[in-house]
Amino acid sequence: MARLLRNDQMGPYRIDPADFPKDGKAIWVCGCGLSANMPYCDKAHNACRQVEQPGRLYTYDPKTRQVVKDEPDPGAI
Ligand code: FES
Repeated sequence: MARLLRNDQMGPYRIDPADFPKDGKAIWVCGCGLSANMPYCDKAHNACRQVEQPGRLYTYDPKTRQVVKDEPDPGAI
């Protein structure tokens, strides 16, 4: 079984230490879906920011986290 999810987030979600205290430091949760260390951001989102363009739909290889398909986004407004 396979599943494709649409994800438009280009960076992490910051969890404030006041909301989730852990060593008094903020936690960065992956929002791009490419982290190899889920649920935490491992800066793999930099690939999104360097490659992706508006109006395009990208498919990433889950192991290499490299773009394997770049096509017009049928859901783009
Ligand atoms: S937001 Fe996904 S790796 Fe940073």
